[in-house]
Amino acid sequence: MSATPADRPRLRVGDLASMKARGEKIAMITAYDHPSALAAEAGGADVVLVGDSAAMTVLGYDSTVPVTVDEMIMLCRAVRRGLTRPVMVADLPFGSYEGSDEMAIATAQRFVKETGCDAVKLEGGGTSAERARAIVRAGIPVMGHVGLTPQTANGQGGYRARGRTAEEALEVCEGALALEAAGCFAVVFEAIPSDATAAIAPRIGIPVIGIGAGPAADGQVLVFHDLLGIYDGPAARFVKRYDALRARMDAGVAAYVGEVRAAEYPAAEHGYGMSNEEYARLEELLAAR
Ligand code: KIV
Repeated sequence: MSATPADRPRLRVGDLASMKARGEKIAMITAYDHPSALAAEAGGADVVLVGDSAAMTVLGYDSTVPVTVDEMIMLCRAVRRGLTRPVMVADLPFGSYEGSDEMAIATAQRFVKETGCDAVKLEGGGTSAERARAIVRAGIPVMGHVGLTPQTANGQGGYRARGRTAEEALEVCEGALALEAAGCFAVVFEAIPSDATAAIAPRIGIPVIGIGAGPAADGQVLVFHDLLGIYDGPAARFVKRYDALRARMDAGVAAYVGEVRAAEYPAAEHGYGMSNEEYARLEELLAAR
């Protein structure tokens, strides 16, 4: 891994707690390959998550459930090579940690050894908090994730906001507190009413990173393909599109295809040259064969 330039000191997971203490908002973004990692780095993100949303954004699955550890590891390795300053977090895929503490530790260790990530993330409170505790005890920092947890959304009433009733919001709070007690260094709040976050976040000692959880969180996370408009289909209400790259990508490819068909590409400046002497010799050689 390359040395960190002095003007871009590498952030550590512990720095996020200091940012929270200073009231500095934490900017987190997902990345799935080398170009998206370079963009996250250049844009100044504090935390880069190789989310299992990769299943949908880059691998074409229709949910996050099918993505495998091997697929995630390949993506994480590409991201690692593009990052210097941000904390890099790898999402543990569905089915790779829930079964037992031993399973959770073994999977987390694989991610750290094979990708160089700084931390792993898992979804859910309850049993997941126990798995988080085991991974933390094995020396690996863990980020939790409560509210809407896409890996198990089907069994929990689908993709909908969580915590719209007081009882459900209390469950979100209990889950986050369990993850904090397990030693997690931060927790993602996904799709939770802004007022619920405002009530719960001050009770959580670790940084709360929101996605669809309102402004009271200590930081925000968005999916790379959503915020840049690489995915431009129907999106959750919390998605803000800062660009429309999908339309620009389509237009760029269409322009190329049009020029190839019209024999406008390649033009002279896109080709390599050959001296007149060599060209004359080539004609002689071709005529003689
Ligand atoms: O997989 C993912 O991208 C995530 C974020 C939405 C937090 O878990």
